[in-house]
This record gives sequence, structure tokens and C-alpha cells, in this order.
Amino acid sequence: MISSLRGMNDILEEDYERFTYFINTATKIAQNYGFHFIQTPLLEETALFKRSVGESSDIVGKEMYQFIDKGENDVCLRPEGTAGVVRAFIQKKLDKAGGTHRFFYHGAMFRYERPQKGRLRQFHQFGVESFGVESVYEDAMMIMMAADILVACGIGYRLQLNSLGDSNCMPKYRENLVHFVTKLEDKICEDCVRRVTTNPIRVLDCKNSTCQELYATAPKLINNLCSTCQDDFDTLKKILDNNGIAYEINTNLVRGLDYYSKTAFEFVSDDIGSQSAIAGGGRYDRLVEFLDGRPTPAVGFAMGIERLMELIHMPEVVREGYYIGAMDEEAVNLVINLAQKKRKTDKTTIDYKAKNLKNHLKGADKANARFCCVIGTNELENGTIWVKDLENKTEETIALGDF
Ligand code: HAM
Repeated sequence: MISSLRGMNDILEEDYERFTYFINTATKIAQNYGFHFIQTPLLEETALFKRSVGESSDIVGKEMYQFIDKGENDVCLRPEGTAGVVRAFIQKKLDKAGGTHRFFYHGAMFRYERPQKGRLRQFHQFGVESFGVESVYEDAMMIMMAADILVACGIGYRLQLNSLGDSNCMPKYRENLVHFVTKLEDKICEDCVRRVTTNPIRVLDCKNSTCQELYATAPKLINNLCSTCQDDFDTLKKILDNNGIAYEINTNLVRGLDYYSKTAFEFVSDDIGSQSAIAGGGRYDRLVEFLDGRPTPAVGFAMGIERLMELIHMPEVVREGYYIGAMDEEAVNLVINLAQKKRKTDKTTIDYKAKNLKNHLKGADKANARFCCVIGTNELENGTIWVKDLENKTEETIALGDF
């Protein structure tokens, strides 16, 4: 038997209900915030991710589904959504057009990680990206939108917040940090030794406990922000306070992708095990320029749908539409005909087999239909149909013309 690849899941039945419920809820909220749908290809040039997510990141360094296609192009399956949306934004010349552009998307992402609970190789994200707004109010709006989506799905969370500074304060901080870490070089893990030269701030979220202990006294970026970054961070906290959004400051939150500056945030859940990040994002003011567009401020986030599916509180299922069945073989064609008409306006399921009433009622129950409608010999003779309202528990026989 051929099975699906490791870390790649089928989504069907109950999972599919959760999946679509989440997408529909998040879509409605993103639209309420003025965002528009964007779809970008699953396959992109590898260079796009190398230049945006960053060569030093784990995603680009170790986890890409990368290959040379039949036309000798170096391509890869997208490991995340932001880079493709930025590419599309520039390709459509929206950077030159100016103004504000807000997008949302959802779809499959691919990372060749070691699969475990909550960590897949093909997973799905719901993401939003906003271009053209420099104000930190946009960062706050993003965070509030993510919180709204989680609350609407009945999901509890902790919000972690940090500021990564900008091109003004970050380089100076980086220098201090490198100075601090270099002194520990013979005690820290191999990955951190490499990070010191590739992307020093990534040492701060190293999972190695020895490293974490050693970095406890490391200089903190949050204490070394320039006045613009500090003011923005203070404003952001004030807006969240005013809107009842609780947060924790996590000075080690650096995010696994290289394109961030200023605001960085992550929503985590304490109810799903070690892969606890359910959403993450932040500001990325330099990325558009980095990918050869006109400098454009931007901010966004993405949520991991598979992780959220475990946490969603689904609304109670309501009975909907019709189930139509025949008790007599001769009525099957009529049933098909009636169902075709009903489907123009309502959800309608049918059973092609002639069955007794008890079995049809079972079928209607399984289909979660509101009305169980059955045609037997009597009904066929009289041109009627027997209808039971499974919610109000009433039943009647009505003329087919009135059905
Ligand atoms: P990210 O933090 O890499 O950010 O991913 C966002 C979310 O995707 C994570 O919080 C997690 O829920 C989910 N996720 C990531 N990897 C996996 C995996 N292997 N299996 C299951 N779920 C996973 C980004 O991707 C950025 N593009 C977010 C962003 C948008 N920043 C600005 N705009």
C-alpha cells in the first residue's frame, strides 16, 4: 500500500470541518479589517527565499524542498507565504503605485523538518500582509486581528512581544552581542558558534539549555533601542493595553526568519505541547527594497492552521437541508429528480437505494439533514411525499407540487 509522505497529512471528514470553519472565520475577520485575498504560486525561484527568509535561517539552510526543474531552473516549494506576496506586490508594481495594500492568504507551506506532533512537512497557514503603513498603529491592528481570530474560534493564547530595533539601533546592539557571545565561544553549542558569524541575534532563541543559561546576562536589545523604536514600542504597548490585549515581553523572541525589524510577536498556546507557536509575525520594512522594490513599510503575521485545529471550539452543529430517499425501487428516479431541483437552493443528500423508513431516518441523521423526505408506494400512487422535520419532530405528507 502506498501511504502519504512523512509529515504530510490528508484532511477530511471532521478535520475538514474544522479546517474550513477556521478559514471561513478568519476570512470574515480579515475582510472586516479591510484585507483582500491574494493567491501566489506554491513553487517559486529558490533565490526569492534565500534573499528574504535569509540564507542563515534554518528554513533556507536546512528545510527547503528545493530542486532543479526540467528547464534547469532552481526552484522550491514555498516554506512560508510572505516572500511570495512581497514578490507579487513588486511584480504588479504596487510599490510604485503607493498607498496602502492589505492582503490575506491561506494555503500549503512546505518545510523539510523532523515531523512530530504539531510539526509537519506540509502544513497550512492563514496569513495577512499589509504594505504602505509606517505607523505602529498598523502593527497593533495586526495583533488585534490575530487575537480576534483566535477568540472567535474559542482559542486561548499568550501573546509574546519584542522589538528588534531598526537599522539605526540594531547594528550597534549586534556588535555588543557578538562581543558578549565571542567570549563564551568555547562553552556554547556548535549552532551558536555558526550563528555568531551568520546572524548573531539568532543565538538568543537557541533551544540548548546551557546556551540559554550563558545568555541570561547577555545585553538585551529592548534596553538598547533608539528613541524612534522605543517610542513606537511604547505606543504599541499602550494601544494593546487600551484594547484589553494582554502581552508578555520576551526579549529573546527574535523569530526564525531574517526579514523582521521593530515589532516581532508570537501567539503561543499552553494546550498543544512543545510546538506551541500558533501564530507569528512582525514588521519587515526593508524586505520590499531588498527584493528590488521601492522601499515600502510592511507588517504581517501567519497562523499555523493544523496547530489551531486541535484547539478550535466548533459551534454546535445545526441540522441543515434535505435528505430524500425512496422506499420503492420505482420511486428512485423521482427522488433523483426532486433532489436536483432542491439543490438549486438547499443542501440535499439522497440515497439511491430503496430502503425502509427506519434506515432512511438513520441516513438523514447521518447526513445531518433538517428534513427527512421519503417516497413509498402510497406516495408514488398519490403524487405525494412524506416529510419529517427532524428538529421540530413534526411530520406531514404533502403534494409533490408543494414540496
Ligand atoms: P512562522 O513563525 O515561520 O512565520 O510561521 C507561522 C506559523 O506557522 C507558526 O506560528 C506555526 O503555527 C506554523 N508553522 C510553522 N512551521 C510549521 C510546521 N512545520 N508544521 C506546522 N505548523 C507550522 C512565517 O511563516 C511568517 N511568514 C509570518 C509572517 C507573515 N510574518 C510577517 N508576515
